[in-house]
Amino acid sequence: MKVLITAGPTREALDPVRYLTNRSSGKMGYALAQALVGAGHSVLLISGPTELDVPDGVDFLPVETAAEMYAAVAQSLGRIDIAVFAAAVADYTPVKVASHKIKKSEAPFTLELQRTRDILGSARAELGFSGTLVGFAAETEDLEANARDKLTRKHCDLIIANDVSKPGIGFGSDRNEVLLVYPEYNEALPPASKHTLAHHLTSAILTLHARLEDARLEDSRRKT
Ligand code: PMT
Repeated sequence: MKVLITAGPTREALDPVRYLTNRSSGKMGYALAQALVGAGHSVLLISGPTELDVPDGVDFLPVETAAEMYAAVAQSLGRIDIAVFAAAVADYTPVKVASHKIKKSEAPFTLELQRTRDILGSARAELGFSGTLVGFAAETEDLEANARDKLTRKHCDLIIANDVSKPGIGFGSDRNEVLLVYPEYNEALPPASKHTLAHHLTSAILTLHARLEDARLEDSRRKT
């Protein structure tokens, strides 16, 4: 299979030396890339800035901003069977990027932000992706309900939901605990290292892809 994975944070510049970002380390997405390439698949990792080494055998496209990540995904999706969106993409970016370092003053400073494009939410309708689409949901309340809402709104086949308010898992940590939210049911996976979890997620994603491919084949057979 040809698999695309987004990982890590994005950085949205305010001026030449400052940016808005989040606490994503990239560990979850990179562990998935490593597990999938280890299982014999071809992996394209599109990643925001992280401290991590790119796993051996993975094709790598580094990006910095949400707009760059959108463009990298848009140019790659055409040849992809399975897309997994683990990146913590900025939802907002500054309206203006100052060309010089912003000077401090005594007056309060207001930042005007505008929405970035929702890359996962664009995959089906705007970018025409017809393969297996897997998103993540980083939630701090109502994990299942919010994840299920993202599953429907973003036209995904699976949402991997993590409660990022729990200590010791999620952003930056070596461990995670996830709830797999499918259209028909949920499956809770026990807490584990991101590497162990990545192997379970790989097998869940590949099983789902095989099931969806069978359904797609059956559908096209019925139409002919
Ligand atoms: O990187 P680590 O430190 O290992 O941490 C892992 C993680 C917590 C970042 C990861 O497990 C995770 O939850 N990733 C998704 C983070 C996130 O931003 O979730 P969200 O609920 O805000 O977004 C939902 C989905 O839409 C995600 O698949 C996200 O990649 C995608 N999205 C969001 C906004 C946007 N503009 N474009 C997107 O594609």
